[in-house]
Amino acid sequence: MNLFDVYPLFDINIVKGKGCHVWDDKGQEYLDLYGGHAVISVGHAHPKYVKAISEQVAQLGFYSNSVINMLQRQLAAKLGKVSGYDDYFLFLINSGAEANENALKLASFYNNRRRVLSFKKSFHGRTSAAVRVTDIPKYVAPVNEGLSVTFVDLNDIKAVREELAKGDVSSVIIEGIQGIGGIQVPNDQFMRDLREACTETNTVLILDEIQSGYGRSGKFFAHQYAGIKPDIITVAKGICNGFPMAGLLISPIFTPVYGQLGTTFGGNHLACAGAISVLEIIEEEKLVENAAKVGAFLLEELKKLPIKEVRGRGLMIGLEFDQPIKEIRTKLLFEQKVFTGVAGTNTIRLLPPLCLTIDDAKEFIKRFKACL
Ligand SMILES: Cc1ncc(COP(=O)(O)O)c(C=O)c1O
Repeated sequence: MNLFDVYPLFDINIVKGKGCHVWDDKGQEYLDLYGGHAVISVGHAHPKYVKAISEQVAQLGFYSNSVINMLQRQLAAKLGKVSGYDDYFLFLINSGAEANENALKLASFYNNRRRVLSFKKSFHGRTSAAVRVTDIPKYVAPVNEGLSVTFVDLNDIKAVREELAKGDVSSVIIEGIQGIGGIQVPNDQFMRDLREACTETNTVLILDEIQSGYGRSGKFFAHQYAGIKPDIITVAKGICNGFPMAGLLISPIFTPVYGQLGTTFGGNHLACAGAISVLEIIEEEKLVENAAKVGAFLLEELKKLPIKEVRGRGLMIGLEFDQPIKEIRTKLLFEQKVFTGVAGTNTIRLLPPLCLTIDDAKEFIKRFKACL
């Protein structure tokens, strides 16, 4: 059997990782400014994480959601404390798309409305409702087209208010910082106005923090720069450092109903053990603060270079060029041995593990300069 060939691959076989570095099958080391697509939060093969996962799988990897799972309760308590959302509920699933799918459903169950408001350049995942509220038409299959969605410009509060005034919008979904859209940071005042407009019209505000959350922005959630509280927050990627897991943080305005949401694998024992250790490491090693510090250093240094625009917060940085970045990125990878991400044709994305040090950042700048 062959693999279904949907990914354009680099001819590199990564077999080992440690901290912010990975190695290929020939023993070549790479500096990881990509974090496997913003997934590696506490660093590759962190010993505490490895121990937690290994011990848990030897004890009990999985049992179903029909019995008490104390690890889920421990994770909820810890996440509530670390994120500042103690009074919210937690619902666990397996991927970012599934998180947004459930968030959109929960919102619609709540206010019994059908239309969703989303933003231009947004990305929310590949499943049916999540892909429909994604502003990339080629990802949307005919079977996904049923959901009614309106896309407006990011930061355009007038357009948002006009749509919400119609009274049929169930939820507004917005990324804490747009990732695939090219690291577009929403204006803090816009976020406050958006919160207000949603409250006034009983519209559910869903914050997709799948890429921008879990400390990446230099705060636990990117929307916390604006000082707002959404009704639902979706998380994935960094939550379990690469083991598939995702979650919804749900405001106490929602009442849980048996059977309304559900999953086989979501919140399994192995994932919970990994996710608890991730939060412990984030706290112990002050990784949110580190993302803020090293991110600020990177932003300052990168702004000195001949780049059209440098955008971002913390360790979520976009470097937009006037020309396509394919050549620079290829040089970075094959000559300078640095992994980076992309957004569109002209923007490089930096999404390193949150343990990136100032020395790693200096090393990256040195190697990056050699490619310009
Ligand atoms: C902002 C955002 N939302 C949703 C998703 C989808 O997550 P997943 O690929 O885990 O389904 C992603 C993935 O890149 C993302 O960046």
